[in-house]
Amino acid sequence: MKSSDLKPILVFDSGIGGLTVLRELRVLMPERHFIYTADDAGFPYGGWEEDALKERVISLFRGLLATHDPELCVIACNTAFTLVGADLRAAFPEMRFVGTVPAIKPAAERTRSGLVSVLATPGTVKRAYTRDLIQSFASQCHVRLVGSENLARMAEAYIRGETLSDDAVLAEISQCFVERDGRKTDIVVLACTHYPFMANVFRRLAPWPVDWLDPAEAIARRARSLVPLMADVEPLIGEDPAIFTSGRPDFSTRRLMQGFGLTVR
Ligand code: DGL
Repeated sequence: MKSSDLKPILVFDSGIGGLTVLRELRVLMPERHFIYTADDAGFPYGGWEEDALKERVISLFRGLLATHDPELCVIACNTAFTLVGADLRAAFPEMRFVGTVPAIKPAAERTRSGLVSVLATPGTVKRAYTRDLIQSFASQCHVRLVGSENLARMAEAYIRGETLSDDAVLAEISQCFVERDGRKTDIVVLACTHYPFMANVFRRLAPWPVDWLDPAEAIARRARSLVPLMADVEPLIGEDPAIFTSGRPDFSTRRLMQGFGLTVR
């Protein structure tokens, strides 16, 4: 069997953050084609009113599933999945969805100081889903939720090659660093798929070293477990498509997509 005979995996985000997940998916699922979808017309998702965002994502998926008939969908967006994951599964019961949620459970298992921060969009920090994760898996920790208004946009600018001021970045992340009774935050969960692109900047600016937890590899492992590798598949040829809901991503975005082996349609 040729890999072009296999159904593709659809990867969805509001913007280019899902590329941090796609690169891990490619490592673990080398025989698969991917369709990358960015709802850039709706970006950023962080500030959306919940009902309106739910409706938007469900209606986008109605079209995407009908057009592309994927094997599996990876929702590479915390802001979307923590809100609409259950509704997507209910609306499309024949499709399998792998979600992205703040990595609070692994952070709670790994922290030694008991002080964990979750760096996310304003939408993700106010979700009931996020509060439930803390209650279920991190009740023994002190969890600081930091909802950043600007970081997703800044990450998009950064990855396109724009220069960001250190002060501006520090203003977005400084709330993550907590000191309490001689203990310090030792893990910051990157709970927005855009943020791992900036992990090197975060590391440089952090007032003390912490683990920056990126769930991308765990998401890829989950996807791999649902789509077992077949022994006799011939290797992949050609680029994968990237779809932007605006229909007109700029030149630097197209170039970035090319770097990820994606052709904008
Ligand atoms: N990449 C998205 C996430 O993981 C959010 C970016 C946005 O605000 O749209 O939450």
